Amino acid sequence: MDSIIELKDINKIYGKRVKTQVLNNINLSIDKGSFNSIIGASGSGKTTLLNIIGMLDRPTSGQVELEGRRIDKMSRRVLADIRNREVGFVFQFHHLLPEFNAIENVIMPRSIRDIFCGRKTSEKAKELLELVGLPKVKKNKVYDLSGGEQQRVAIARALMNSPKIILADEPTGNLDSKTSEVIYNIFRDINKELGTTFIIITHDERIAKKTDRIIEIEDGVIKF
Ligand SMILES: Nc1ncnc2c1ncn2[C@@H]1O[C@H](COP(=O)(O)OP(=O)(O)O)[C@@H](O)[C@H]1O
Ligand SMILES: [Mg+2]
Repeated sequence: MDSIIELKDINKIYGKRVKTQVLNNINLSIDKGSFNSIIGASGSGKTTLLNIIGMLDRPTSGQVELEGRRIDKMSRRVLADIRNREVGFVFQFHHLLPEFNAIENVIMPRSIRDIFCGRKTSEKAKELLELVGLPKVKKNKVYDLSGGEQQRVAIARALMNSPKIILADEPTGNLDSKTSEVIYNIFRDINKELGTTFIIITHDERIAKKTDRIIEIEDGVIKF
């Protein structure tokens, strides 16, 4: 199978005077269209690893490839553009803009690229809100939505630019188990219907067990 992400000999060291090695010689290949989870104790390096995959952070050494392109070598500007077009992020705290309504939040990644986004864009935002099961609250301000609904808006936003890969950092860490299940099922449907690759950091064992591949990290090393 083709890979979408290739990590080769990744090391990450934080700090200049006092150095802390957080990732230790990570080698990892993620198949295109696959549905993966990352598990591991708090502080083991999960977020650091996901941020390097998502180009939010750079490794101290090693290679990162996105569909064969060496992203660790690219300039910040080029990276920001690739990130915006090809990667969707979902975080534990949704980082939505509470004063804006659901549609406006979903459109946000597109309006960063194109301030004159038109009707087609808002049509797509509406479709995405329907896809995540929120046909009724499109015009509601985000602060009027429940935690689960807000997270679904964040998922719709992550899908706005039709990314190839979605990176989720404890997306259900803040939600009850029933809502977590709903979010997981939405991810699964998107994966099946659109072929989007997923990497989901989770503490929820039941969710991890339902992914195709569990990547376990311990003290900055991947366990095989
Ligand atoms: N910006 C940073 N500067 C220094 N240390 C950091 C930074 N970010 C994370 N760390 C440290 O790196 C380790 C791994 O953190 P992280 O990747 O967030 O782990 P996890 O997501 O598995 O809980 C932790 O010990 C954390 O304190
Ligand atoms: Mg983390």
